Amino acid sequence: KRAFQIAIDGVASTGKSQTARLLVQRLDGFAHIDSGAMYRAITLKTFPLKPAVSSTAWAEQVAAIAENTQFHFAGSRLFMDGEDVSTDIRSLEVTRAVSAVAAVPAVRSALVRMQRDFASAPGRGSRGVVMEGRDIGSTVLPDAQLKIYLDGQVLVRAERRFAEMHAAAKKAGLPLNVTLEEIMADVQRRDTADFERKTSPLKKADRAVVIDTSFLSLAEQVGMLEVLARERLMH
Ligand code: C5P
Repeated sequence: KRAFQIAIDGVASTGKSQTARLLVQRLDGFAHIDSGAMYRAITLKTFPLKPAVSSTAWAEQVAAIAENTQFHFAGSRLFMDGEDVSTDIRSLEVTRAVSAVAAVPAVRSALVRMQRDFASAPGRGSRGVVMEGRDIGSTVLPDAQLKIYLDGQVLVRAERRFAEMHAAAKKAGLPLNVTLEEIMADVQRRDTADFERKTSPLKKADRAVVIDTSFLSLAEQVGMLEVLARERLMH
C-alpha cells in the first residue's frame, strides 16, 4: 500500500514547520519532512565558498554541494552529513541567503529527488509523511492524498516572527538587533522570490485546501489539519 502523503505549502512564516511537527505528534506513525530545512542546510554549507567570478560559476558550485550532501531526519531534527544542523539553519544569515540557493534549478532537482525518496520509504513503522515547503503539493508529491496551502497577512506573519525572535533573544540574554519593519521586508522579499522564481515557484497546488492563518492560533491551525487528515485517512 502506498504511503500516505500530506503536503503543506504556503508563504513564509505561516507556521508550516511547527504545524507539521504538532500534526505528526497527533497522527500515529507519520514522519515529518521539513523541505525548507534542507534548502537552509545547503545554504549553510555554501557560506565558506569564495565569492565566485560569475553567478553561473557560483550556481555550479552550489549545485555540486547539493548533489554531494546526505540528509537524515530524526523526529523534527535534521542531520546533514551526520551532523545535527537544526539550530544553525535558523539563523538570520541563512534566512537571508536561502532564496538565492533555492532558485538554482540543479539544487532543486537534487533535493526533490531526496524528498521523493523520503516519502516513498518514510521509515520503519511509518504510515506516511507530512512534508512541508513551497512546491510539495505542486511538484514533489503531486499525488498527495491531502494538500494544504497556508496563507496569511504579511503584517501578522512578521509580528509572529518578531515575537519569536524577541523571546529567543531574551532567553539567550542577547539584544535583538532587528526591527519589525526589517522582518516584514524580509518576509515580503522571500515570498516574492518564491513566487517569481522560474523553477517550481510557490503556488497553490490543484486540490489544495487553502487556510488563512492570520486569525488562527497554532492550536486551531493544527486542529483543522488534523480533522482534514483523519477524514482522508478513513477513505
Ligand atoms: O520554510 P522555510 O522558511 O524554512 O524555507 C526556507 C526557504 O527555502 C524558503 O524561503 C524558500 O525559498 C525555500 N524553499 C523552497 N522550496 C521548498 C521549501 C523551501 O524553495 N519546498
